[in-house]
Amino acid sequence: MITIHDLCAWKAEGRRFPILTAYDFPTAQILDGAGIPVLLVGDSVGRNVLGYANELPVTMEEILHHTRAVARGAERAMVVGDMPFMSFQASLQDGVRNAGRLIKEGGAQAVKIEGLQLDLIHRLVDIGIPVMAHVGLTPQSVYGLGGYKVQGRGEAAQKVLDQAVSLEKAGAFAIVLEAMPAELGQEITGSLQIPTIGIGAGPHCDAQVLVINDLLGLNEKPPKLAKAYANLREEIARAVTAFAAEVEAGTFPDEEHSYS
Ligand code: KIV
Repeated sequence: MITIHDLCAWKAEGRRFPILTAYDFPTAQILDGAGIPVLLVGDSVGRNVLGYANELPVTMEEILHHTRAVARGAERAMVVGDMPFMSFQASLQDGVRNAGRLIKEGGAQAVKIEGLQLDLIHRLVDIGIPVMAHVGLTPQSVYGLGGYKVQGRGEAAQKVLDQAVSLEKAGAFAIVLEAMPAELGQEITGSLQIPTIGIGAGPHCDAQVLVINDLLGLNEKPPKLAKAYANLREEIARAVTAFAAEVEAGTFPDEEHSYS
């Protein structure tokens, strides 16, 4: 089983590593078998699986449901459960309880928390819950940020760098850098001991994360930061059209797929 200590050792060795989101059991099995060391059950499940317009409606129960499925499929990979919007923002107690639920009921080995939640991270690390931090474009603040916009351009770069340094000091074991100039991604990566995980933060981060649906080409309109390595949207449409045509023609099921 991959641990937070492996990830920090990889950073020290200069070894880069991939991370992917996963939302269900078969995908977790496939990614785990392919050697992906960290599976993130992101609140991106809302847009990618549940049909929500953004990340905000995702509930604790939904994240728990998907985290349990992923944890059942992961033998070697570390499973990280994302803390959804309003599962930690109202109080420290909410944050501690809900992080505990992701570990205890969800089977995750770590949680991810967006933004500058320094007290909460201190507390969770004290009680033995590893925390992955997340700065730059934090989708749970999409309204406050005025949209899904690149962060940390120009003078704003220093603020993002300071946040990353504070989150490392608070005890985060890794940090997601989302949608920021590649130069800033490089500067933060060089300033921290913990691994940086880039998504739209340039090639210098210690790790790169992609949303699995984007990688597989399942999304109709993927964001600029995503690269599709397959076109499953087309492949699924082709397969179901072939099935429908055979049913209509009466050629499925044939002898091979029938019982005598
Ligand atoms: O929810 C998510 O999938 C994420 C990653 C994109 C980092 O936060």
